[in-house]
Amino acid sequence: MKLRNRAASPELPAGVKKMTDSQEEVGAMTPLQLYERLNAQGEQVRCLKTAKAEKAEIDVAVQLLLKLKTDYKHLTGQDYKAGCPPPENVVNQDNGAATDGIDEEDNVDPWNVSTSNAKGVDYDKLIVRFGSSKIETELVDRIEKVTGQKPHRFLRRGIFFSHRDMHQVLDAYEKNKSFYLYTGRGPSSEAMHVGHLIPFIFTKWLQDVFDIPLVIQLTDDEKYLWKDLAIEECHRFAVENAKDIIACGFDVNKTFIFSDFDYMGSSPEFYRNVVKIQKHVTYNQVKGIFGFTDSDCIGKISFPAIQAAPSFSNSFPQIFGGRKDVQCLIPCAIDQDPYFRMTRDVAPRIGYPKPALLHSSFFPALQGAQTKMSASDANSSIFLTDTPKQIKNKINKHAFSGGKDTIEEHRKFGGNPDVDVSFMYLTFFLDDDEQLEKIKQDYSSGALLTGELKKILIETLQPMIAQHQERRKQVTEETVKQFMTPRPLNFKL
Ligand code: TRP
Repeated sequence: MKLRNRAASPELPAGVKKMTDSQEEVGAMTPLQLYERLNAQGEQVRCLKTAKAEKAEIDVAVQLLLKLKTDYKHLTGQDYKAGCPPPENVVNQDNGAATDGIDEEDNVDPWNVSTSNAKGVDYDKLIVRFGSSKIETELVDRIEKVTGQKPHRFLRRGIFFSHRDMHQVLDAYEKNKSFYLYTGRGPSSEAMHVGHLIPFIFTKWLQDVFDIPLVIQLTDDEKYLWKDLAIEECHRFAVENAKDIIACGFDVNKTFIFSDFDYMGSSPEFYRNVVKIQKHVTYNQVKGIFGFTDSDCIGKISFPAIQAAPSFSNSFPQIFGGRKDVQCLIPCAIDQDPYFRMTRDVAPRIGYPKPALLHSSFFPALQGAQTKMSASDANSSIFLTDTPKQIKNKINKHAFSGGKDTIEEHRKFGGNPDVDVSFMYLTFFLDDDEQLEKIKQDYSSGALLTGELKKILIETLQPMIAQHQERRKQVTEETVKQFMTPRPLNFKL
């Protein structure tokens, strides 16, 4: 993962100098705090050099920097690297291997996803990089046992591949301690594509099998801050997107969907949590986690606190009474993890449980798994508003093929399903495991041609999207209002 490069600030920030004057209590620091301290010290050294300070003064600052680096290595088992915050739960390893072999070509953060590998991002390496845990077969089996339901194909096929604390959530659930779900979407346009549905399809399944409440945050404020859009536009997109989300089948008695612009302004409890979080995260920390620079507006810098707040149950008094201890589980794409690493770092310091997470891989663009589907590139995406004909044409014309150039070669050598976008899409949407396996075998052996594979995908997506459009048509303004009104939900904790 590459984080953005940040220019050293030309001036020494006020807080930085003060820290070197005081005695350090490095031993009491968390890895993230020490990382942040190192960033600040690095900046101090650069500033002193730029300002052509006395050699003795520079030496003292450099010595402290080296000492902090040694402490960091001791604490985390890894070398300090600017722009690479420590993964959560780092254990002190004597080989420091956790950062080895990271594919520098994989770039994953909340705003960009790209890799040079046609098979897509190396998710195992991402797990090491982010310090999360792999969803092993054992966990999938456990979910099956606890819920008594066949695991969703996204779990069976490793599309949700990584987690934090899911075993803890299940331990508590088995002891009749329930939890709530939180997910979200940044409404950057009216057009949603099939990739956007992945977290919602999965969240709907979780809501059904665990029978629990759900909150869905629409970050219209985030999109206003990041894009060249008016506030009213972002808010309108939030309401339009809510219709597509509702069309996924959520239970109105158990689901609260909110626009930040509306809910933040109306809920004192939510805003109090935002400010609590803001007080416990420094500028250096968010710079390290998100790569913000000195020229980013302050709205962006404080936004992560707004995405963190729904992880705490007392942000929703209408749902949880005053309770602050209800466990939260967040299903999301892995690129959102930086927000929740920050949230989990803050939680115990403000007296709240850490949210648990389930991470999904990305939905690949039609052109190939080097990047994810993007709503701003019409040819890379299949939209929820596409007609059957558009779906067919886009797949036939743009879906990257792992097949061979000629029929003769394909028959002889077979195709490569690992890089074939049509096959990848089928792993997301074709529920029948046996049928999927047969397609894989036939494609690899050359018995199934690219055109035939694409036809199967077209015939899978056309009815799926037509049904979505049908359900969306049923969603009235009144329904949207119901979902988006703060109110009690129906559940037992
Ligand atoms: N930042 C997310 C986006 O741009 C939206 C979001 C807010 C979200 N809260 C979330 C996504 C919780 C997943 C889980 O899409």
